[in-house]
Amino acid sequence: MSFALLAACNSVPKAVGSIDLTSPDGANRMTFILTEAGGPMYSLDHKDISVLEPGVLGFELRGTVKYQGLVYKGDKIEKPDEVPPYMFTEGFEIIGTETASSDETWEPVWGEESSIRNHYNELLVKLRHKADGKLMDIRFRCFNDGLGFRYEFPDGQPLVHFVIKEEMTEFNCAQDNTAWWIPGDYDSQEYQYACTTLTGIPAEFKKHTNQYNSSTTLYSTSCVQTSLQMKTPEGLYVNIHEAALVDYSCMHLVADGKKLRAHLTPDAQGWKGRLETPCVTPWRTVQVAESAEEQLASRLVLNLNEPCALEDVSWIHPVKYMGVWWEMIAGAGNWHYTDAASVKLDDFDYSTATPNGRHSANNDNVRKYIDFAAGNGFDALLVEGWNIGWEEWANCNKDYVFDFVTPYPDFDIDALNGYAHSKGIRLVMHHETSSSVRNYERHMEEAYTLMNRYGYDAVKSGYVGDILPIGEHHYGQWMNNHYLYAVTEAAKHHIMVNAHEAVRPTGLCRTYPNLIGNESAMGTEYQAFGGIAPGHTAILPFTRLNGGPMDYTPGIFEQNLKEWCGNDSHVNSTICGQLALYVTMYSPLQMAADTPEHYSRFMDAFQFIRDVAIDWSESRYLYAEPQDYLVIARKDKNSDSWFLGGVTDEQTRTFSVALDFLEEGRNYEATIYKDAPDADCYENPQAYAIEKSVVSLQDKLELTMVPGGGFAVSFKAL
Ligand code: NOJ
Ligand code: CA
Repeated sequence: MSFALLAACNSVPKAVGSIDLTSPDGANRMTFILTEAGGPMYSLDHKDISVLEPGVLGFELRGTVKYQGLVYKGDKIEKPDEVPPYMFTEGFEIIGTETASSDETWEPVWGEESSIRNHYNELLVKLRHKADGKLMDIRFRCFNDGLGFRYEFPDGQPLVHFVIKEEMTEFNCAQDNTAWWIPGDYDSQEYQYACTTLTGIPAEFKKHTNQYNSSTTLYSTSCVQTSLQMKTPEGLYVNIHEAALVDYSCMHLVADGKKLRAHLTPDAQGWKGRLETPCVTPWRTVQVAESAEEQLASRLVLNLNEPCALEDVSWIHPVKYMGVWWEMIAGAGNWHYTDAASVKLDDFDYSTATPNGRHSANNDNVRKYIDFAAGNGFDALLVEGWNIGWEEWANCNKDYVFDFVTPYPDFDIDALNGYAHSKGIRLVMHHETSSSVRNYERHMEEAYTLMNRYGYDAVKSGYVGDILPIGEHHYGQWMNNHYLYAVTEAAKHHIMVNAHEAVRPTGLCRTYPNLIGNESAMGTEYQAFGGIAPGHTAILPFTRLNGGPMDYTPGIFEQNLKEWCGNDSHVNSTICGQLALYVTMYSPLQMAADTPEHYSRFMDAFQFIRDVAIDWSESRYLYAEPQDYLVIARKDKNSDSWFLGGVTDEQTRTFSVALDFLEEGRNYEATIYKDAPDADCYENPQAYAIEKSVVSLQDKLELTMVPGGGFAVSFKAL
């Protein structure tokens, strides 16, 4: 590796030299540059196409505060002055470089395939800040599917405890790419996606905000979230995200023309990160693919996470579940037991309170769900609203909202768990924290212990509302540390975690596979909060799912909520569109979200949800275009069956799907669930046809999806 002299061109400050790092197949080339001013920069090319032009690397750091007591200025008492922040982006010299290569294959506990190849070339550049001797290394890994890099602050140097004012990393896009984005928000990802050029983001921003979310903090009209999917004018699919977000704040991107700049989520005082050497930042990832299908197959984000940290993973397993849930979300039932106006948790006698008669988590209703879920082969049943405190809970100015251990009087926790276990299923615990995080941490050990006592092995947690302590954000360093604490503490109790409203995943499920799900995006619940436009589920696998699985909660068969429970929202998807999601929205945790009554009317279509696998040995991305359509085939990890799913946006689409993924020399019984020709997601969502035929790998299936529709096929090996 040479430190080549680089001539200055228009957009690049004068460089004293550069180092190239290429991917194992030679297609991606990262160039590290040190400018004359000692500024580290990097660029990225794919074959002869420039993906990123030289972009800045480094930080702005807080100056030191030397505590000298309070400062009296006349009769005013002030805090001591701070040394002003300083740039940590220039004035460096290279004190060493190291290179390495790796090619290993690892087996995830659960996933889209049974083994994953991690193959890259690596460059470590060691930098020394000439003025003060502070050290910062930058580690680059170049893969066939893109680039990862992170900052590393070694031990034994002048920088010990330090505070980040801003991370200055730039992603200097070479072109004004098309981008699929959601607004940058320190507290919510519950948005539908916009699609504009990078320079077109500010003009469209306002139209795409969601002011009704229970906690939302926008920064500027040019700030967007990751994982950001882009497409270049040359047709390359470029995705910017991060991997292994640990003890650091979540990164947003601010568009300045076609250039994107990192923007970290602030803490309550406005600082962006408090670090102690030795430490590393999360990886900044830039995936590059020549097709949309290739982008979906990229495992770069998982590969940049640490291997599994848990010694025993035998207790972790995929979960297909139902829930006493949708009826509350849609408005047919309640989480709360009484209509009491204000409840002091330790000072309210529920046993004498008047029930409101709409409490869904009651013994009879829960037993009904247990019977249906167990009778149809499910693993588990989620029950929300089982515990006291729901009378007043979200953004309610209360710290002590829930205790996570006391059931409502009509929820017999002992009897219901016993009943579920006798039928071969488990209950899934629910911990809505109402974002009162200190309160949750105080009760966590007791709450997990209670779960162990009754045989729960999975918890759905939630963070609705503004974070307490006030001023912290859902995606700041403090909260990110909390989410991971909840996962690692749960692991000690052999509990799997599915956290809603938590920070968007960055592949940490590789390291902590008991993190089996997250929400962290707009999920099916929004079909009951105003509806979701078709196309949403065709963009999520490119963006939100890039970092890990989503608890999207599919499977809604009754779209007309008005008729059911007076809710004005409509579920904008056909029944077959819902079936397809079990294949297209990968998750080891899959819910059949609708009610037993609604499924009972369509048991032939429900059969697909009963049959579909939730853990895969192989996945094939057959046709895809972000926000337009997806066709994906997957092989069950535990049998020879294959499953196929397709979703579309507002357009009718037909695909002729070659079945060449099937095993040679074998016949399969195909059961095809497809939209009826006159179906559509608004007017006629429940029209479908089911066909059966015997097929082999020479065959093709011609499958048509109506607006907001889809198809699902199961292939049972004969
Ligand atoms: C929002 C979650 O996304 C939803 O699934 C849950 O039912 C409610 N919060 C209440 O916790
Ligand atoms: Ca939510």
